[in-house]
Amino acid sequence: MSVLSVYLRVLRQLAPEAKLAYALVAANLVLAGAQFAEPILFGRIIDLMTTTQSTGATLAWSDLLPLVLAWAGFGLFSIGGSMAVGLRADRLAHRRRLAVMSQYFDHVLNLPLSFHANVHSGRLLQSMLEGAAAMFTLWLSFFREHCASFLALFLMLPATLLYNWRLASLLIVMVTVFYFVTTFVVRRTETLQAMVERHNAALASRASDALGNVPVVQSFTRAQSESQALKLIIDDLLAAQLPVLSWWAVVVVASRASATLTVLCIFVLGAYLHMRGLASIGEIVTFTNFATMLIGRLEQTVGFVNFLFQQSAKLREFFAILDTHPVVADRLDAKDAGRLKGKVAFENVGFSYDGKRLAVRNVSFVAEPGETIALVGSTGSGKSTTLGLLHRVFDPVEGIVSIDGVDIRDFTLTSLRRNIGVVFQEPMLFARSIEENLRIGKPDATIAEIALALERAQAANFVARQSEGIATEVGERGRTLSGGERQRLSIARALLKDPPIMVFDEATSALDAETEKQIQKALDAAIKGRTTFIIAHRLATIRNADRIFVFENGAIVESGSFDELVKQGGRFAALAAA
Ligand SMILES: Nc1ncnc2c1ncn2[C@@H]1O[C@H](COP(=O)(O)OP(=O)(O)O)[C@@H](O)[C@H]1O
Ligand SMILES: [Mg+2]
Repeated sequence: MSVLSVYLRVLRQLAPEAKLAYALVAANLVLAGAQFAEPILFGRIIDLMTTTQSTGATLAWSDLLPLVLAWAGFGLFSIGGSMAVGLRADRLAHRRRLAVMSQYFDHVLNLPLSFHANVHSGRLLQSMLEGAAAMFTLWLSFFREHCASFLALFLMLPATLLYNWRLASLLIVMVTVFYFVTTFVVRRTETLQAMVERHNAALASRASDALGNVPVVQSFTRAQSESQALKLIIDDLLAAQLPVLSWWAVVVVASRASATLTVLCIFVLGAYLHMRGLASIGEIVTFTNFATMLIGRLEQTVGFVNFLFQQSAKLREFFAILDTHPVVADRLDAKDAGRLKGKVAFENVGFSYDGKRLAVRNVSFVAEPGETIALVGSTGSGKSTTLGLLHRVFDPVEGIVSIDGVDIRDFTLTSLRRNIGVVFQEPMLFARSIEENLRIGKPDATIAEIALALERAQAANFVARQSEGIATEVGERGRTLSGGERQRLSIARALLKDPPIMVFDEATSALDAETEKQIQKALDAAIKGRTTFIIAHRLATIRNADRIFVFENGAIVESGSFDELVKQGGRFAALAAA
């Protein structure tokens, strides 16, 4: 995406309020015109004075009055108009900034887990805040300055030819030279600035990564080395940033110099033309004013181009994220799943993360409603991926996953996921109250329902012990609770949702044996009356399962009940013996 198309895209974000935006542009056009009236009127007054003087007559107020009044009128109109435009633009920019942020947030929350696995959350947050802030500044300066500047440069500047073409030609030449010098510098800084942005992104990722792992940083006494690593990034950033700043300093000096030079040239040429009777004193005054005004406009434009180039990398990233389309999305004719019975069937299902190696291959089975299935096998054998295919973290590259005889891709994602409760290894609680965390399972749950879910998840006791009961805040990711407590809350959350299908992905692996025993009770409650898939390593959990699937290299290599598999004396028997 070129910088220009980034800019156009930024302006297109105003589309929902297009009418207001166009009105502001039109108002800018009028204001830009009005600004040109002032130097012209000023020149007229000077001419009137000099001609009266040279003819020997005395100047009367009545001659000056209409011009002075017109001048005052245009001046006041410009000031009032700019204020009104500025105010409207301010409000518009604020509204759009927040709207764009919420659009981004909404979009990112819906991106697949595979996307989030690869992009750091700190980076996503930074991109959201900085992208929206950059757009805000660009919109505001578009309406307050650049729109008028562009109009002045592209409409008004050529129009001065009509007024005095000789002086106008010089002005146009000076402005063009200025333009080329600036473009040269901009080209120079472009790649340098991109490097700066890469270091900026690294800074954000690194910092939020460290902040997210403070316990590790402290217990491994890594604070110093983490700070050191950050300082290294900062050094790189500065080293990349400084040359860019030098180039921009060149532009500032060049523009100051060219402002002085232009005014001087206009004056000298004007004086020369005046001696030959080709320009009046008033015209010289008008054009020196034009020159000052236009150079001011140009400086603004250069500042804007500078800013745009600095922000373009951020904006590109912002838009790139906005353009990431979830690979898993509703089909056009997707229908609501309603409440499913929970008969789950996999038919020759295969999936690959990289398009080369299959992480899951040829998986086929049917799980009847209410059945409990345990998935075992070494890490990386494809258990999580298989269950991910069930709640559509991704779609299979071959085969079909169906529930109650319907391909799950025919259901809307929301209605499918309403039917499946997932308990992850990491309980993932929000930094909100226990009640709010539970209500994620069922927003309109009654207090009695919440109490029952806590009871069944073996969580009622420890919740009652909390200082404020279910109103207790649990800290970032539930940090104020122990691992077992967090996990019981996440089971209660899934129970409240009351789905016909449950998935436990190593929900008990991180817990000690004592805690696991308690959780086992919670699990038994959760399993009752639902089709359940449990990935687990502990025998206690697996023994109660109706069937066990043994995974190896992405495929099911053995299946059967605990006793059957032990009797078979195959891989599972070996695992169980160990
Ligand atoms: N997000 C991912 N991107 C790429 N490869 C992945 C991803 N998640 C898992 N894999 C790979 O897919 C295979 C199966 O992983 P997984 O289903 O998580 O195994 P399990 O749950 O049995 O430990 C492994 O080889 C793993 O490295
Ligand atoms: Mg796993």
